[in-house]
Amino acid sequence: MKRKSVNNAPEVMELEAGKYAWCSCGHSSKHPFCDGSHSGSDMAPVIFELTEKKRVALCACKKTAGEPFCDGSHS
Ligand code: FES
Repeated sequence: MKRKSVNNAPEVMELEAGKYAWCSCGHSSKHPFCDGSHSGSDMAPVIFELTEKKRVALCACKKTAGEPFCDGSHS
């Protein structure tokens, strides 16, 4: 499985406190979250946790060095 860029801009959203699984492969139908589509490949989601409600920018180009967050690599 090849890592697929989903968009050339981050997914900006407000998330409640909790645990999330960011899709690192780009094949999820629930992007930016993992739906299990990576299964059978050597890819895996990145699990991250928020301790409070927060506005986040999740990487969609899949080039970030700061997974799961956008680091500006798309531009
Ligand atoms: S579907 Fe992409 S990492 Fe799980």
